[in-house]
Amino acid sequence: MITILGIESSCDETSASICQDGKILSNITAGQSVHEKYGGVVPELASRAHMQNIVPVVDVALQTAGGTGLSTIDGIAFTQAPGLIGSLLVGGQFAKSLALSLGKPLIAVHHMQAHVVANLIGDPKPGFPFLCLTVSGGHTQIVVCESPTQMKVIGETIDDAAGEAFDKSAKLLGLPYPGGPLIDKYAKHGDPNRFKFPEPRIEGLDFSFSGLKTSILYFLQNAGKSNLYKEEFAATEEERQVFIKKNLPDICASIQERIVTILLNKLKKASLDTGITDVCLAGGVSANSGLRNSFMETGKKNGWRTYIPAFEYCTDNAAMIAITGYYKFLAGEFSGLSVSSTARAEW
Ligand code: KG4
Ligand code: ZN
Repeated sequence: MITILGIESSCDETSASICQDGKILSNITAGQSVHEKYGGVVPELASRAHMQNIVPVVDVALQTAGGTGLSTIDGIAFTQAPGLIGSLLVGGQFAKSLALSLGKPLIAVHHMQAHVVANLIGDPKPGFPFLCLTVSGGHTQIVVCESPTQMKVIGETIDDAAGEAFDKSAKLLGLPYPGGPLIDKYAKHGDPNRFKFPEPRIEGLDFSFSGLKTSILYFLQNAGKSNLYKEEFAATEEERQVFIKKNLPDICASIQERIVTILLNKLKKASLDTGITDVCLAGGVSANSGLRNSFMETGKKNGWRTYIPAFEYCTDNAAMIAITGYYKFLAGEFSGLSVSSTARAEW
Protein backbone atom coordinates (compact mmCIF):
# COMPACT_ATOMS: atom_id res chain seq x y z
CA MET A 1 0.00 0.00 0.00
CA ILE A 2 1.39 3.43 -0.93
CA THR A 3 0.17 6.49 0.97
CA ILE A 4 0.98 9.99 -0.25
CA LEU A 5 0.41 13.34 1.48
CA GLY A 6 -0.23 16.10 -1.09
CA ILE A 7 0.10 19.82 -0.36
CA GLU A 8 -1.17 22.64 -2.60
CA SER A 9 -0.41 26.31 -1.88
CA SER A 10 0.15 27.95 -5.29
CA CYS A 11 -2.44 30.73 -4.97
CA ASP A 12 -4.97 31.53 -2.26
CA GLU A 13 -6.08 28.04 -1.23
CA THR A 14 -4.20 26.04 1.42
CA SER A 15 -5.01 22.40 0.75
CA ALA A 16 -3.84 18.97 1.95
CA SER A 17 -4.90 15.51 0.82
CA ILE A 18 -4.15 11.87 1.50
CA CYS A 19 -4.04 9.49 -1.47
CA GLN A 20 -3.73 5.74 -0.91
CA ASP A 21 -3.03 3.51 -3.92
CA GLY A 22 -4.59 6.10 -6.24
CA LYS A 23 -7.73 6.62 -4.11
CA ILE A 24 -8.38 9.95 -2.38
CA LEU A 25 -9.07 9.48 1.34
CA SER A 26 -9.25 13.16 2.24
CA ASN A 27 -9.04 16.55 0.54
CA ILE A 28 -9.16 19.52 2.92
CA THR A 29 -9.02 23.12 1.67
CA ALA A 30 -8.94 26.42 3.56
CA GLY A 31 -9.87 29.46 1.47
CA GLN A 32 -8.67 32.98 2.27
CA SER A 33 -11.40 35.59 2.74
CA VAL A 34 -8.75 38.25 3.48
CA HIS A 35 -8.54 39.10 -0.27
CA GLU A 36 -12.24 39.79 -0.83
CA LYS A 37 -12.13 43.50 -0.11
CA TYR A 38 -9.22 44.01 -2.56
CA GLY A 39 -11.01 42.49 -5.59
CA GLY A 40 -8.17 40.02 -6.25
CA VAL A 41 -5.47 37.97 -4.52
CA VAL A 42 -2.83 40.02 -2.63
CA PRO A 43 0.33 37.83 -2.78
CA GLU A 44 1.88 38.89 0.55
CA LEU A 45 -1.40 38.36 2.42
CA ALA A 46 -1.76 34.97 0.72
CA SER A 47 1.62 33.69 1.96
CA ARG A 48 0.88 34.87 5.52
CA ALA A 49 -2.50 33.08 5.46
CA HIS A 50 -0.81 29.89 4.14
CA MET A 51 1.55 29.98 7.13
CA GLN A 52 -1.40 30.15 9.52
CA ASN A 53 -3.41 27.48 7.71
CA ILE A 54 -0.91 24.83 6.73
CA VAL A 55 -0.49 22.93 10.02
CA PRO A 56 -4.23 22.70 10.86
CA VAL A 57 -5.13 21.81 7.25
CA VAL A 58 -2.59 18.94 7.12
CA ASP A 59 -3.76 17.81 10.55
CA VAL A 60 -7.43 17.64 9.47
CA ALA A 61 -6.47 15.87 6.21
CA LEU A 62 -4.68 13.17 8.24
CA GLN A 63 -7.58 12.81 10.69
CA THR A 64 -10.24 12.71 7.92
CA ALA A 65 -8.32 9.96 6.14
CA GLY A 66 -9.14 7.80 9.16
CA GLY A 67 -6.21 6.84 11.31
CA THR A 68 -3.55 7.80 8.78
CA GLY A 69 -0.81 9.05 11.07
CA LEU A 70 2.32 10.74 9.75
CA SER A 71 4.18 7.45 10.29
CA THR A 72 2.07 5.74 7.58
CA ILE A 73 3.00 8.33 4.90
CA ASP A 74 5.32 6.97 2.18
CA GLY A 75 5.96 10.21 0.31
CA ILE A 76 5.24 13.94 0.46
CA ALA A 77 4.11 15.67 -2.73
CA PHE A 78 3.87 19.46 -3.03
CA THR A 79 3.15 22.07 -5.70
CA GLN A 80 6.57 23.28 -6.82
CA ALA A 81 5.41 25.54 -9.70
CA PRO A 82 3.85 27.64 -11.18
CA GLY A 83 2.12 30.12 -8.86
CA LEU A 84 2.71 33.00 -6.45
CA ILE A 85 6.27 32.59 -5.25
CA GLY A 86 5.63 33.43 -1.57
CA SER A 87 2.68 31.03 -1.44
CA LEU A 88 4.62 28.23 -3.18
CA LEU A 89 7.51 28.69 -0.74
CA VAL A 90 5.29 28.10 2.32
CA GLY A 91 4.00 24.75 0.99
CA GLY A 92 7.44 23.80 -0.34
CA GLN A 93 9.31 24.53 2.90
CA PHE A 94 6.67 22.71 4.93
CA ALA A 95 6.88 19.65 2.66
CA LYS A 96 10.69 19.64 2.79
CA SER A 97 10.76 19.91 6.60
CA LEU A 98 8.32 17.03 6.90
CA ALA A 99 10.23 14.88 4.38
CA LEU A 100 13.48 15.54 6.23
CA SER A 101 12.07 14.83 9.70
CA LEU A 102 10.20 11.66 8.62
CA GLY A 103 13.00 10.45 6.33
CA LYS A 104 10.48 10.04 3.46
CA PRO A 105 10.87 10.97 -0.21
CA LEU A 106 9.88 14.40 -1.49
CA ILE A 107 7.95 14.68 -4.77
CA ALA A 108 7.78 18.01 -6.63
CA VAL A 109 4.58 18.43 -8.66
CA HIS A 110 3.78 20.83 -11.51
CA HIS A 111 0.41 22.45 -10.74
CA MET A 112 -0.83 22.37 -14.35
CA GLN A 113 0.09 18.70 -14.80
CA ALA A 114 -1.81 17.96 -11.60
CA HIS A 115 -4.96 19.65 -12.99
CA VAL A 116 -4.77 17.17 -15.92
CA VAL A 117 -4.12 14.15 -13.66
CA ALA A 118 -7.25 15.09 -11.62
CA ASN A 119 -9.09 13.22 -14.41
CA LEU A 120 -7.58 9.97 -13.08
CA ILE A 121 -9.35 10.38 -9.71
CA GLY A 122 -12.55 8.32 -9.76
CA ASP A 123 -14.05 6.13 -12.46
CA PRO A 124 -14.40 5.70 -15.38
CA LYS A 125 -10.90 6.92 -16.26
CA PRO A 126 -9.82 8.18 -19.70
CA GLY A 127 -7.56 5.92 -21.75
CA PHE A 128 -4.11 7.07 -22.89
CA PRO A 129 -3.36 9.13 -24.83
CA PHE A 130 -6.09 11.62 -23.94
CA LEU A 131 -6.59 15.31 -24.66
CA CYS A 132 -7.22 17.74 -21.81
CA LEU A 133 -8.51 21.30 -22.00
CA THR A 134 -7.23 22.94 -18.81
CA VAL A 135 -9.00 26.20 -18.08
CA SER A 136 -8.25 28.16 -14.91
CA GLY A 137 -7.80 31.71 -13.65
CA GLY A 138 -4.19 31.77 -14.84
CA HIS A 139 -3.98 29.21 -17.67
CA THR A 140 -5.71 27.95 -20.80
CA GLN A 141 -4.04 24.94 -22.36
CA ILE A 142 -4.70 21.94 -24.56
CA VAL A 143 -2.54 19.05 -23.42
CA VAL A 144 -1.84 15.60 -24.88
CA CYS A 145 -1.45 13.25 -21.93
CA GLU A 146 0.52 10.09 -22.80
CA SER A 147 0.75 8.75 -19.24
CA PRO A 148 0.22 10.17 -15.72
CA THR A 149 3.77 11.55 -15.80
CA GLN A 150 4.22 12.36 -19.50
CA MET A 151 2.32 15.11 -21.24
CA LYS A 152 2.87 17.98 -23.61
CA VAL A 153 1.13 21.28 -24.27
CA ILE A 154 -0.09 21.59 -27.88
CA GLY A 155 -2.00 24.87 -27.54
CA GLU A 156 -2.24 27.72 -25.03
CA THR A 157 -3.37 31.29 -24.60
CA ILE A 158 -1.19 34.03 -25.99
CA ASP A 159 -2.70 36.64 -23.61
CA ASP A 160 -5.50 36.29 -21.03
CA ALA A 161 -6.64 32.97 -19.57
CA ALA A 162 -10.27 31.80 -19.94
CA GLY A 163 -10.88 32.43 -16.21
CA GLU A 164 -9.52 35.96 -16.58
CA ALA A 165 -11.86 36.53 -19.52
CA PHE A 166 -14.77 35.59 -17.23
CA ASP A 167 -13.46 37.59 -14.25
CA LYS A 168 -12.56 40.72 -16.25
CA SER A 169 -15.94 40.69 -18.04
CA ALA A 170 -17.65 40.37 -14.66
CA LYS A 171 -15.64 43.32 -13.35
CA LEU A 172 -16.77 45.46 -16.30
CA LEU A 173 -20.34 44.51 -15.38
CA GLY A 174 -19.74 45.69 -11.80
CA LEU A 175 -19.79 42.16 -10.32
CA PRO A 176 -17.45 41.20 -7.42
CA TYR A 177 -14.29 39.05 -7.78
CA PRO A 178 -14.09 36.25 -8.81
CA GLY A 179 -16.92 36.96 -11.23
CA GLY A 180 -16.79 33.73 -13.29
CA PRO A 181 -19.34 31.87 -11.14
CA LEU A 182 -21.66 34.92 -11.20
CA ILE A 183 -21.59 35.15 -15.02
CA ASP A 184 -22.51 31.45 -15.01
CA LYS A 185 -25.39 32.10 -12.59
CA TYR A 186 -26.93 35.01 -14.56
CA ALA A 187 -26.29 33.28 -17.93
CA LYS A 188 -28.69 30.49 -16.91
CA HIS A 189 -31.61 32.92 -17.38
CA GLY A 190 -30.31 34.67 -20.49
CA ASP A 191 -30.33 34.35 -24.29
CA PRO A 192 -26.83 33.37 -25.52
CA ASN A 193 -27.58 34.60 -29.04
CA ARG A 194 -28.86 38.06 -28.15
CA PHE A 195 -25.49 39.87 -28.43
CA LYS A 196 -22.62 38.91 -30.74
CA PHE A 197 -18.97 39.13 -29.72
CA PRO A 198 -16.10 38.37 -32.12
CA GLU A 199 -14.20 35.09 -32.32
CA PRO A 200 -10.45 35.77 -32.71
CA ARG A 201 -8.60 34.38 -35.73
CA ILE A 202 -5.55 32.75 -34.19
CA GLU A 203 -3.57 30.17 -36.14
CA GLY A 204 -3.23 26.61 -34.88
CA LEU A 205 -4.32 25.56 -31.41
CA ASP A 206 -3.48 28.74 -29.48
CA PHE A 207 -6.11 30.94 -27.84
CA SER A 208 -6.56 34.68 -27.40
CA PHE A 209 -9.08 36.44 -25.16
CA SER A 210 -7.82 40.03 -25.11
CA GLY A 211 -9.81 41.09 -28.23
CA LEU A 212 -12.99 39.74 -26.68
CA LYS A 213 -12.32 41.72 -23.51
CA THR A 214 -11.86 44.94 -25.53
CA SER A 215 -15.04 44.37 -27.51
CA ILE A 216 -17.01 43.80 -24.27
CA LEU A 217 -15.52 47.01 -22.85
CA TYR A 218 -16.69 49.08 -25.87
CA PHE A 219 -20.03 47.27 -25.99
CA LEU A 220 -20.73 48.30 -22.38
CA GLN A 221 -19.34 51.83 -22.84
CA ASN A 222 -21.75 52.18 -25.78
CA ALA A 223 -24.64 50.71 -23.75
CA GLY A 224 -24.99 47.91 -26.29
CA LYS A 225 -25.16 50.06 -29.46
CA SER A 226 -21.92 48.65 -30.89
CA ASN A 227 -18.77 46.86 -29.76
CA LEU A 228 -16.54 49.21 -31.76
CA TYR A 229 -14.87 52.31 -30.38
CA LYS A 230 -16.42 55.50 -31.75
CA GLU A 231 -16.89 58.69 -29.75
CA GLU A 232 -20.43 59.24 -31.04
CA PHE A 233 -21.48 55.77 -29.76
CA ALA A 234 -20.43 56.47 -26.17
CA ALA A 235 -23.32 56.41 -23.69
CA THR A 236 -23.58 58.32 -20.42
CA GLU A 237 -22.77 56.53 -17.17
CA GLU A 238 -26.47 56.43 -16.32
CA GLU A 239 -27.41 54.89 -19.70
CA ARG A 240 -24.73 52.22 -19.21
CA GLN A 241 -25.97 51.27 -15.76
CA VAL A 242 -29.59 51.09 -16.93
CA PHE A 243 -28.53 48.95 -19.94
CA ILE A 244 -26.58 46.51 -17.73
CA LYS A 245 -29.36 46.26 -15.16
CA LYS A 246 -32.02 45.57 -17.80
CA ASN A 247 -29.99 43.06 -19.84
CA LEU A 248 -27.63 41.36 -17.37
CA PRO A 249 -28.75 37.74 -18.02
CA ASP A 250 -28.54 38.16 -21.83
CA ILE A 251 -25.16 39.92 -21.62
CA CYS A 252 -23.74 37.18 -19.37
CA ALA A 253 -25.16 34.38 -21.55
CA SER A 254 -23.73 35.99 -24.72
CA ILE A 255 -20.26 36.50 -23.16
CA GLN A 256 -20.24 32.93 -21.84
CA GLU A 257 -21.36 31.59 -25.21
CA ARG A 258 -18.44 33.25 -26.99
CA ILE A 259 -15.82 32.12 -24.41
CA VAL A 260 -17.16 28.55 -24.65
CA THR A 261 -17.17 28.49 -28.47
CA ILE A 262 -13.59 29.85 -28.58
CA LEU A 263 -12.52 27.02 -26.25
CA LEU A 264 -14.44 24.19 -27.90
CA ASN A 265 -13.60 25.12 -31.51
CA LYS A 266 -9.91 24.76 -30.66
CA LEU A 267 -10.54 21.52 -28.78
CA LYS A 268 -12.37 20.09 -31.83
CA LYS A 269 -9.41 21.08 -34.00
CA ALA A 270 -7.01 19.41 -31.53
CA SER A 271 -8.99 16.17 -31.69
CA LEU A 272 -9.04 16.25 -35.51
CA ASP A 273 -5.31 17.05 -35.71
CA THR A 274 -4.25 14.31 -33.27
CA GLY A 275 -6.97 11.71 -33.88
CA ILE A 276 -7.45 11.45 -30.08
CA THR A 277 -11.07 10.96 -28.96
CA ASP A 278 -10.72 10.52 -25.18
CA VAL A 279 -11.18 14.14 -24.13
CA CYS A 280 -11.11 15.73 -20.65
CA LEU A 281 -11.72 19.08 -18.98
CA ALA A 282 -9.77 20.42 -16.00
CA GLY A 283 -9.27 23.61 -13.97
CA GLY A 284 -11.62 25.99 -12.15
CA VAL A 285 -13.48 27.16 -15.28
CA SER A 286 -14.61 23.57 -15.95
CA ALA A 287 -17.13 24.28 -13.16
CA ASN A 288 -18.92 26.53 -15.70
CA SER A 289 -22.28 24.97 -16.58
CA GLY A 290 -22.32 26.37 -20.15
CA LEU A 291 -18.88 24.89 -20.84
CA ARG A 292 -19.79 21.52 -19.28
CA ASN A 293 -23.00 21.21 -21.30
CA SER A 294 -21.48 22.28 -24.61
CA PHE A 295 -18.44 20.04 -24.00
CA MET A 296 -20.68 16.98 -23.54
CA GLU A 297 -22.76 17.90 -26.62
CA THR A 298 -19.62 18.43 -28.72
CA GLY A 299 -18.37 15.07 -27.48
CA LYS A 300 -21.59 13.32 -28.52
CA LYS A 301 -21.53 14.90 -31.99
CA ASN A 302 -17.89 14.00 -32.56
CA GLY A 303 -17.80 10.50 -31.09
CA TRP A 304 -15.60 11.43 -28.11
CA ARG A 305 -15.52 9.80 -24.72
CA THR A 306 -15.74 12.82 -22.39
CA TYR A 307 -14.54 13.20 -18.78
CA ILE A 308 -14.81 16.02 -16.23
CA PRO A 309 -13.41 15.69 -12.68
CA ALA A 310 -15.82 16.12 -9.74
CA PHE A 311 -16.23 19.81 -8.88
CA GLU A 312 -13.94 19.65 -5.81
CA TYR A 313 -11.11 18.38 -8.04
CA CYS A 314 -11.62 21.07 -10.74
CA THR A 315 -10.75 24.12 -8.62
CA ASP A 316 -7.38 24.26 -6.86
CA ASN A 317 -7.06 21.30 -4.49
CA ALA A 318 -4.42 19.02 -2.96
CA ALA A 319 -6.06 15.77 -4.12
CA MET A 320 -4.72 16.41 -7.62
CA ILE A 321 -1.24 16.99 -6.13
CA ALA A 322 -1.47 13.82 -4.03
CA ILE A 323 -2.56 11.60 -6.95
CA THR A 324 0.12 13.06 -9.24
CA GLY A 325 2.59 12.40 -6.39
CA TYR A 326 1.36 8.81 -6.25
CA TYR A 327 2.06 8.24 -9.96
CA LYS A 328 5.46 9.96 -9.69
CA PHE A 329 6.23 7.73 -6.69
CA LEU A 330 5.45 4.65 -8.82
CA ALA A 331 7.68 6.04 -11.60
CA GLY A 332 10.50 6.74 -9.09
CA GLU A 333 10.44 10.49 -9.81
CA PHE A 334 11.67 12.02 -6.53
CA SER A 335 13.25 15.38 -5.74
CA GLY A 336 16.17 16.32 -3.51
CA LEU A 337 15.75 18.79 -0.65
CA SER A 338 17.51 21.43 -2.78
CA VAL A 339 14.58 21.63 -5.25
CA SER A 340 13.33 25.23 -5.40
CA SER A 341 9.86 26.65 -5.90
CA THR A 342 9.44 28.66 -9.11
CA ALA A 343 6.74 31.14 -10.07
CA ARG A 344 6.89 30.29 -13.79
CA ALA A 345 7.79 26.90 -15.17
CA GLU A 346 7.93 25.09 -18.47
CA TRP A 347 6.98 21.41 -18.43
O1 KG4 B 1 -8.28 26.52 -11.24
P1 KG4 B 1 -8.77 27.64 -10.39
O2 KG4 B 1 -9.57 27.31 -9.16
O3 KG4 B 1 -7.59 28.54 -9.89
C1 KG4 B 1 -6.50 28.85 -10.68
O4 KG4 B 1 -5.51 28.05 -10.69
O5 KG4 B 1 -6.60 29.90 -11.37
O6 KG4 B 1 -9.62 28.63 -11.34
C2 KG4 B 1 -10.21 29.82 -10.87
C3 KG4 B 1 -10.97 30.48 -12.02
C4 KG4 B 1 -11.45 31.89 -11.72
O7 KG4 B 1 -11.13 32.72 -12.82
C5 KG4 B 1 -12.97 31.72 -11.59
O8 KG4 B 1 -13.71 32.86 -11.96
C6 KG4 B 1 -13.21 30.59 -12.57
O9 KG4 B 1 -12.13 29.70 -12.34
N1 KG4 B 1 -14.49 29.91 -12.32
C7 KG4 B 1 -15.55 30.00 -13.16
C8 KG4 B 1 -16.60 29.23 -12.57
N2 KG4 B 1 -16.14 28.72 -11.38
C9 KG4 B 1 -14.83 29.14 -11.25
N3 KG4 B 1 -15.68 30.62 -14.34
C10 KG4 B 1 -16.86 30.50 -14.95
N4 KG4 B 1 -17.93 29.81 -14.45
C11 KG4 B 1 -17.83 29.16 -13.28
N5 KG4 B 1 -18.89 28.48 -12.80
ZN1 ZN C 1 -5.11 25.84 -10.68
